[in-house]
Amino acid sequence: MPEARDVLARRLRRQAAWCSELGSPLYASLLESAADDLQLGGPVWEVLEGFDDEPGTAALALRFMGAVHRLVLDETLPELARHYPSTGGEGDASATWPAFKRAVVDQRAKLRDLLGAGCQTNEVGRSAALLGGFLEVAHRTHLPLRILEIGASAGLNLRWDRYRYESSEGAWGDETSEVRFVHSFEIPPAMNRSAAVVERKGCDLQPVDPTSVEGALTLRSFIWADQLGRLALLDGAIRVASDLPIEVEPLDAADFLQRELATRAEGVATVVYHSVFMQYVDEAGRKRLEAAVAGARQRASPHAPVYHLRLEPGARTEARFEVRLDDQLLGTSLAHGTGVRWLEDPSRQ
Ligand SMILES: C[S@@+](CC[C@H](N)C(=O)[O-])C[C@H]1O[C@@H](n2cnc3c(N)ncnc32)[C@H](O)[C@@H]1O
Repeated sequence: MPEARDVLARRLRRQAAWCSELGSPLYASLLESAADDLQLGGPVWEVLEGFDDEPGTAALALRFMGAVHRLVLDETLPELARHYPSTGGEGDASATWPAFKRAVVDQRAKLRDLLGAGCQTNEVGRSAALLGGFLEVAHRTHLPLRILEIGASAGLNLRWDRYRYESSEGAWGDETSEVRFVHSFEIPPAMNRSAAVVERKGCDLQPVDPTSVEGALTLRSFIWADQLGRLALLDGAIRVASDLPIEVEPLDAADFLQRELATRAEGVATVVYHSVFMQYVDEAGRKRLEAAVAGARQRASPHAPVYHLRLEPGARTEARFEVRLDDQLLGTSLAHGTGVRWLEDPSRQ
């Protein structure tokens, strides 16, 4: 038992460090307090007991915080709502912890139920990290883009071309967009490139419909409650989604790619892409995915090229995620797509 508690507490503390690093002091502090409580066998242990045999990549700490946040947003937890900034609270961590702990006691059964669902963050900020990759493909091929996103969640990053990106060295996209990235770039990619998306499709094992009340609640619950900027971007992206409906198919990524890549798509550059997705796929699934992309690349031609773009945790440093196009490192960013640093000459990497 103490061993299971140690495993779980380590996961909460690890996420606390990430939250601190990524600008969520409230979640960093609540997760530390939750880890202390868990190690003492308190109410947090009673909610998380039994989840220690999941792989660390299943993001239990984020699912736990998301489950609590969901009950704040749907008005089940008015006392905690008075502290959470997402519902107008002051966000003071030490004042929030007692209410958080009471919520964990009162809502144990509901929280355990919610923890059964996967991590459903759909981070629209990652469009800013992926942008340069799409522009690179358009620039190299001079072809319109056919974009295929796997693990797309609600598909918010399937609409990356409907958002506005601003940097010290130029801007890209619709000036009137409700989704504006103004602080995402430390070293921006070249923005003086045009790209046209002519086809967009996505899949996810558990797609979220961003235009439904239920779907919007799910997406909002996974935003960290003191990150109001992220919440505003999400709300903007949900409105864009209503104007540009796209069905994210409820399908396994490898099955989706096998079907979509089976025949050559002439006159377009096909871009298979994903962000913060691979950690959820097992070894067999990865092999099937890689085989589907490799097969399509063998069948590709200059008039029907196939690219593989991704934003995934970096091999070099844990803190920075890497944007790769096929085998090439194009740039890095933080986990939610901020702090984008584009490489001046990717061919040297
Ligand atoms: C952390 S979310 C990231 C969502 C989105 N890519 C983003 O960056 O915001 C991971 C997503 O992968 C989906 N997923 C996990 N395994 C999958 C699989 N084998 N096929 C399709 N989707 C999968 C999950 O349902 C979840 O929506």
